[in-house]
Amino acid sequence: MMDASVPVVAVDGPGGSGKGTVCRLLARELGWHLLDSGAIYRATAIAAARRGIDAGDGAALAPLAAALDLVFEAPLDPADESLVRLDGVDVTGELRQETTGEQASRLAAIAEVREALLQRQRDFRQPPGLVADGRDMGTVVFPDAAVKVFLTASAEERARRRHKQLKEQGVSGSLTALLEEITARDARDQGRAVAPLVPARDAVVIDTTGLSVNQVADRLRELLERSTVYADKD
Ligand code: DC
Repeated sequence: MMDASVPVVAVDGPGGSGKGTVCRLLARELGWHLLDSGAIYRATAIAAARRGIDAGDGAALAPLAAALDLVFEAPLDPADESLVRLDGVDVTGELRQETTGEQASRLAAIAEVREALLQRQRDFRQPPGLVADGRDMGTVVFPDAAVKVFLTASAEERARRRHKQLKEQGVSGSLTALLEEITARDARDQGRAVAPLVPARDAVVIDTTGLSVNQVADRLRELLERSTVYADKD
């Protein structure tokens, strides 16, 4: 069960804003749990594709999402992303493909799907703390998070980062096509009626264009140190 006394750092923002890398670094340094909520939406998209369910079919997707057999496993190298097993099969590579992200963004616009995935995300809130990466961590999933940040970066910078990341994973692709995909996905994530991609009212917005991962992580640590989590320790 979720424990509301466990502190959460909620990190939201569009794809390529650097959230994933920063969250992984911060969680590792703090020794806290990590929630990669995008991976849950992506895994739902893969599960749907395997069963021939369309990413727009909410009635079929909601029970599928609720019953997802999904396991995150610690990677051999702690700097790497977690291994993700769906129905016992390693889907880590497929998870990161742009087509998976596109389908995830489509099904993420459906209210029943989001509802079906809510508790699964909240269950990651375990002692001593949680770093949560997503689109609606501060607005919907953990509205009582101790720290809320919203990371942004120009679309060009985000496309460049995604391109580099994909290249490191051995996936080639055109930068122009990526820029188009990222822009289209942002528009859908921002424009949807349920849990749209917007900063929480009390979120600190950080433009990460030109900032290194370490610089962004430093900012987050600073905010955490100033938050209620450590308020009693002064
Ligand atoms: O962060 P990501 O690229 O792995 O996310 C893939 C898609 O999943 C994203 O385009 C929108 C959706 N998503 C969401 O709606 N809410 C979240 N908390 C995380 C991801």
